[in-house]
Amino acid sequence: MVTELLHLDAAHPDQHEIDRAGRILREGGLVAFPTETVYGLGGNALDPEASKKIYAAKGRPSDNPLIIHIADMEHLYPIAAEVPEAAIRLADVWWPGPVTMIFRKKAIVPDETSGGLPTVAVRMPNHPIALALIRAAGGYIAAPSANTSGRPSPTRAEHVMEDLDGRIDMVIDGGEVRIGLESTIVDFTEDVPCILRPGYVNEQKLCEILGEVTIDPAIVSADGMHDRKPRAPGMAYRHYAPKAKLSIVTGDMESVINKINELARRAALEGKTVGIIATDETAAHYTEGHVRDIGSIDSDKEIAQHLFSVLRDFDDDGVDIIYSEAFDTPRMGQAIMNRLLKAAGHSVIEA
Ligand code: TXA
Ligand code: MG
Repeated sequence: MVTELLHLDAAHPDQHEIDRAGRILREGGLVAFPTETVYGLGGNALDPEASKKIYAAKGRPSDNPLIIHIADMEHLYPIAAEVPEAAIRLADVWWPGPVTMIFRKKAIVPDETSGGLPTVAVRMPNHPIALALIRAAGGYIAAPSANTSGRPSPTRAEHVMEDLDGRIDMVIDGGEVRIGLESTIVDFTEDVPCILRPGYVNEQKLCEILGEVTIDPAIVSADGMHDRKPRAPGMAYRHYAPKAKLSIVTGDMESVINKINELARRAALEGKTVGIIATDETAAHYTEGHVRDIGSIDSDKEIAQHLFSVLRDFDDDGVDIIYSEAFDTPRMGQAIMNRLLKAAGHSVIEA
């Protein structure tokens, strides 16, 4: 299959081209597209065959459910049963936006899309290309992140092409995404809403709107959830992993720099190529290896936006071992560290 790479203006996408992409989706094809979080791999959510194609293209286990993307509130009710008032309040503030909500599903949602679960995940992305494409496709696009299963999620169209060229019909290039981490997932199927995946909209912001929220214990357990099964099936898989072994070094800034320099020197002596994930403030202090600057310590926006592309860049560099600083920033720190810890297989070194 030849994959068409279509460049569109992210703010004002050409409607004629959007209609053409929408037609591919209506006819059962697959189109990758930008959202504000990461690139998604879209197929018609109400067509079981399209969902099967998504799993095949990603190499993803078919018991891992897909998120249905909608563009208009009226499209929520035909797919979701029992939408609580709290969810409407959250949608009022954050839709379109980087939040996914889980509801009991209606029969129209194929089991292939929901991974066999009685529930459905729904999100209204905040991106002009995504919204226009959803409408052009008939209202419902199932879209996981547009990476090969296990690799870091794509934040640029080039990443999608790296993973899926030749496997899908079209990739729409709308430039680099704004957020860089996948949406916050909130489960509304029990009495108290529960965070299944941390994201840009953090626990505090959710509490302000919902009053009470819980967080799935499996995603905050220090041992990498070996003893708990996360409620979002996808959170259980090895994910975001670069090819090299990654370890996170924690402690105060000076100790971390010293420790990483020591570890990097030792690795270099053993003939290994070392990658280091550093910040604007620390990058110049490293004396060894490929140093990649992820952004400023004071900007979790930059760190989140660059995390996945830095991990992919190290694959291109062909390094053997990566050391990263920790990024426990106040706002998005939980989401950033959740992804980084998974990428590191929970390998943490105290400086
Ligand atoms: O930001 C995002 O959410 C991106 C963009 C493309 O919208 N999408 C995304 O999809 O991250 P994906 O498939 O890579 O991750 C979806 C996660 C998986 O961990 C999956 O197990 C979980 O959502 N999920 C989907 N439906 C669910 C359900 N009914 N119950 C619990 N977890 C669910
Ligand atoms: Mg994913």
